[in-house]
Amino acid sequence: MIAAVLQNVAAGVISIDEEGRIITCNRAALNMLHQSKEQAVGRPFQELWEDAERSKLAELLEEDPGPTGRFSRGLRLFLGSDWKTFEAKVRTMRDRDGRVSGRVMVLEDLTELISAQQMAAWNDAARRVAHEIKNPLTPIKLTAERLLRRHRQQDGDISKALEEGMETIVREVDSMRGMVDEFSRFARMRPPQPTEVDIERLVDETLKLYEGLKPGVEVGSEIDDGARSALLDGEQIRRALINLLDNALEATEAPGRVSVHVYADNGSLEIEVADTGEGIPVSAREKLFLPHFSTKRRGTGLGLSIVYRIINEHHGSIRVEDNEPRGTVFRIQLPQG
Ligand SMILES: Nc1ncnc2c1ncn2[C@@H]1O[C@H](COP(=O)(O)OP(=O)(O)O)[C@@H](O)[C@H]1O
Ligand SMILES: [Mg+2]
Repeated sequence: MIAAVLQNVAAGVISIDEEGRIITCNRAALNMLHQSKEQAVGRPFQELWEDAERSKLAELLEEDPGPTGRFSRGLRLFLGSDWKTFEAKVRTMRDRDGRVSGRVMVLEDLTELISAQQMAAWNDAARRVAHEIKNPLTPIKLTAERLLRRHRQQDGDISKALEEGMETIVREVDSMRGMVDEFSRFARMRPPQPTEVDIERLVDETLKLYEGLKPGVEVGSEIDDGARSALLDGEQIRRALINLLDNALEATEAPGRVSVHVYADNGSLEIEVADTGEGIPVSAREKLFLPHFSTKRRGTGLGLSIVYRIINEHHGSIRVEDNEPRGTVFRIQLPQG
């Protein structure tokens, strides 16, 4: 009965015994992994998932769920001919006597949900940009009309009004141009063009922009051996870093520290941007990477969505965590080579 139900749920469900043999693998899981039941059931998962992508799942099953007996993780896998985004939940199974009898992994395919969410966010962003661009148009028009009226009335001393009016117009046009530039830079972003990049240099050059910017807030970096160069689009990664550093410095008051740590881990390049700033409430984390989410009065909310998009196009992932003892850390994982 349970087996029949499992076969028909949309989530992928895989269970293994304490020796790592696959006991159940429902239809959804087989479809997601492009494997057949005959291939899977009864085989040790380490043997079944030896290739670069599926071995990421094997790693999750090997991970110790700790005292709570469960954890969940987001991951992106290149399966068949597409990148897919999953949420994997892993749980320890125990028998009646409380002995560990294996593990279950539930895989939820979030690919379509995420792209639908992003699409909805984009429609919303487009509406807001249109609205924000309309805002400065009113003072521009009013100012021009007022000046024209005074000119027609042959007002003797128009020069002061003219000066103020022109200042208003120029200021509003500038703010409008800033918004349009930022938005169109994002909309026109080209696919990454990877070259071998000197990571140390890229990070140092980028951090230079921030040195001494905020007295009492130190900036620093640490680049481990094995992470000094990588194949990626240097310009785009620099933009991603700049967006993260902008936010980090804005959130951090003196005395404080903003730091970048780059290291290699298991074939991927890890970039951490940490600050000792105000931190991000859990309730905001979900919306963080959507275009136009901002808690700042003059923020565009595009920064993190640009970062997300750059990392996504590099087939990497980004997540946000609390920094210890305070502040925020953004962790980027990029496939290397
Ligand atoms: N390092 C950080 N510390 C605290 N809050 C952050 C940090 N990075 C991002 N945020 C939050 O995420 C929001 C979105 O950031 P972003 O997309 O760069 O847009 P903006 O900076 O224009 O507000 C910010 O308004 C802020 O509330
Ligand atoms: Mg920002």
